[in-house]
Amino acid sequence: MYRIAVCISGRGSLLPPICEAIENGSLPAVIACVISDRPGTAGLERAEAAGIPALCIDRRKYRDPEGPSLSDAILQAVEGQADFIVLAGFLSILQGTILEKFTGKIINIHPALLPKHGGRGMYGMRVHQAVIESGDRMSGSTVHFVTSGIDTGPIITQRSIEVLPEDTPDSLRHKVGGIEGDLLVEALRLVMAPLKEKRGVVK
Ligand code: GRF
Repeated sequence: MYRIAVCISGRGSLLPPICEAIENGSLPAVIACVISDRPGTAGLERAEAAGIPALCIDRRKYRDPEGPSLSDAILQAVEGQADFIVLAGFLSILQGTILEKFTGKIINIHPALLPKHGGRGMYGMRVHQAVIESGDRMSGSTVHFVTSGIDTGPIITQRSIEVLPEDTPDSLRHKVGGIEGDLLVEALRLVMAPLKEKRGVVK
């Protein structure tokens, strides 16, 4: 059974599909904790209501470049407590030691088809706005491993949706949001499946 720490910054809209997959036995995991980088988020309330340990590591307390970093505070909270860190609508950038200690174990979901429409400052509605402005016929969502680059780590899985002429940033957000729960769970299954199972070796 793998332990997951889920990091959020807002609604925590991807928590229910993860919880559902755990409950129906299709994901061999348990949510060890939900961490929000800002106080009072709907995602924290959602976690508490579901009986999941929830904590706020407020990003505003870690602004001093000479002081401890947000990434180190998160590392301290999850080390020994979680096997995977899932960034599910998390707006802070993880840096430093946590990336070394959790190499290949930190997963992010981005609401576009990376490598397009990613990078610093590309989050939320800005992403969908950029897709509309680019005239792209397709958008979607990407789950990838987190590395020191922003949204540039190895891709685990992607799913596309069609962008229609009448689409707006808001309608795109809804369409992409509609596929992200399944996509994230699929990616978690992939990274959690033991190698022998993938090779079809049954003992
Ligand atoms: C998702 O669209 C995900 O791709 C992005 O943030 C959204 C989830 O955050 N990284 P929230 O639950 O809407 O706050």
